[in-house]
Amino acid sequence: MVHFHRVTLEYRRTQTKALYDLNLEIRKGEFVFLVGQSGAGKSSLLNLILKRLEPTSGAVYFAGENLKALRGDRIALHRRRIGAVFQDHRLLREKNVEENLLFALRVLGVPKNEWETRVTRALRQVGIVHKKRSYPEELSVGEAQRVAIARALVGEPPVLLADEPTGNLDPANALGVLEIFKSAHARGATVLMATHSRDLVEAYPQRVVLLKAGQLVRDEREGKYSLV
Ligand SMILES: Nc1ncnc2c1ncn2[C@@H]1O[C@H](COP(=O)(O)OP(=O)(O)OP(=O)(O)O)[C@@H](O)[C@H]1O
Ligand SMILES: [Mg+2]
Repeated sequence: MVHFHRVTLEYRRTQTKALYDLNLEIRKGEFVFLVGQSGAGKSSLLNLILKRLEPTSGAVYFAGENLKALRGDRIALHRRRIGAVFQDHRLLREKNVEENLLFALRVLGVPKNEWETRVTRALRQVGIVHKKRSYPEELSVGEAQRVAIARALVGEPPVLLADEPTGNLDPANALGVLEIFKSAHARGATVLMATHSRDLVEAYPQRVVLLKAGQLVRDEREGKYSLV
């Protein structure tokens, strides 16, 4: 589903090599935890999959297609196949919770008659229906994070990328969020989640990929939380 072939990413301005000669194959339907210290390259890797960054060398393939070849509208179409949760929530400030989700559905081209059911379902999954008329600045950090997750799920994309989706949540809410991603996984989604949380990895023993200074140094199939 996602394939990194000898990918090196250098941020030119600072000449930082964020990823170095990275090979990684993620199959359809896999759940992968991406772990590693701050600065190891996790967010950079996720941004390459979204084509928000281009590799300096090597190639990133998505569903067999080299992302380098995508231009214009096809980049937007590519991103619609992915539900992304970023380290900061990136909700639209001038829209309330419900409107943020409706906006996502409109962009995705989901038929209007499905909107209400989808929004209610996604908000229910993250336990935030009662805040649907609130604006992002009226939410706690954890609530905003859950809304961002609802927005990523609402389009039911085949691939979910999550960058520290539980970073600002208490342990109970963090496990609740993990449950949401587990359900998506059970429904067939491919999930790649960057995390610093050993609790999460322990709670759901899946594949764990460890990055260290931009290199893939461990790849454990049985979810060894000792890597976190
Ligand atoms: N826009 C940028 N310009 C220059 N260097 C960057 C940029 N973004 C990240 N870096 C550098 O690239 C390296 C990898 O950063 P990245 O954000 O991918 O790490 P991370 O594993 O996501 O860390 P964290 O756990 O703190 O989120 C770091 O050395 C960082 O300083
Ligand atoms: Mg990061």
